Amino acid sequence: MLLGVLSACVLGAAVLYVLVVWLIPAAVQHSAWAALLWHDVIVERFLDFITGSTRPQRLLKAVQKNASRGDPQSVISAIDRFCHSSEWAMNVGDEKGVILDSVVCEVSPGCALELGTYCGYSTVRIGRLLPPGAKLITLEFNPDYAKVARQVIDFAGLQEKVLLVEGPSGDLIPKMKEQYGITTFDLVFLDHWKDRYLPDTKLLEECGLLRKGSILLADNVICPGTPDYLAYVRSSPRYESKYFKSHLEYTKVEDGLEKSIFLG
Ligand SMILES: C[S@@+](CC[C@H](N)C(=O)[O-])C[C@H]1O[C@@H](n2cnc3c(N)ncnc32)[C@H](O)[C@@H]1O
Repeated sequence: MLLGVLSACVLGAAVLYVLVVWLIPAAVQHSAWAALLWHDVIVERFLDFITGSTRPQRLLKAVQKNASRGDPQSVISAIDRFCHSSEWAMNVGDEKGVILDSVVCEVSPGCALELGTYCGYSTVRIGRLLPPGAKLITLEFNPDYAKVARQVIDFAGLQEKVLLVEGPSGDLIPKMKEQYGITTFDLVFLDHWKDRYLPDTKLLEECGLLRKGSILLADNVICPGTPDYLAYVRSSPRYESKYFKSHLEYTKVEDGLEKSIFLG
């Protein structure tokens, strides 16, 4: 009798494990809403509850354990491994990251702005490719994410090149010239909440922070999507815009980056 109950428990646990670790993640790979609901809501809340920690804290631990201090590439690889094998996270990710890298290398910005730091993954990606003397300002309004991102950026050895400013983009963009000594940005990476892409782009224009030739690179233009922003940069005579097709980070769902050249 006891053996029967024990066997049933072991079998149940095994089925649950296969379901949660293999079958559901594989099944949600192709559906945007299912992938986001599973990874970003159900799994995150469950793991937060049972570990008593947050996803950014777990990601930081993976960096500290598996990356080498002062080596940005090892930080990026450690985060990608964590996201592929342990937990999905809303970084730009390895696949779209290659597109981001190529744009950063092409622009070679002296001064860059990132909207939305999260844990600092894309900050490290951009920061490691900056030319000598260049600066990246990254904005994050969640203090818990900012705390983790600072440690990730420091671990990567990029603290001299990167300035993380805590607060909402709508408040901070108008302060860029006076408070942070910015003339114009050569490159802006938009990766914060999607309903802010368009208002913040217009704010950057109004504040004179874009010059002829400044590049805007926007993530997640398909998933979750930024239809108002896309319509604006694709139809405005002030921009020349191009879509780079890819996939939502660490999934097979279509997503992409929109690169827009400001024409003045
Ligand atoms: C998709 S995540 C950024 C991912 C990061 N760029 C990466 O690839 O590693 C979006 C982040 O933007 C932040 N955020 C959203 N709206 C913001 C705003 N208006 N101002 C500042 N941060 C914002 C969120 O708290 C979140 O951490």
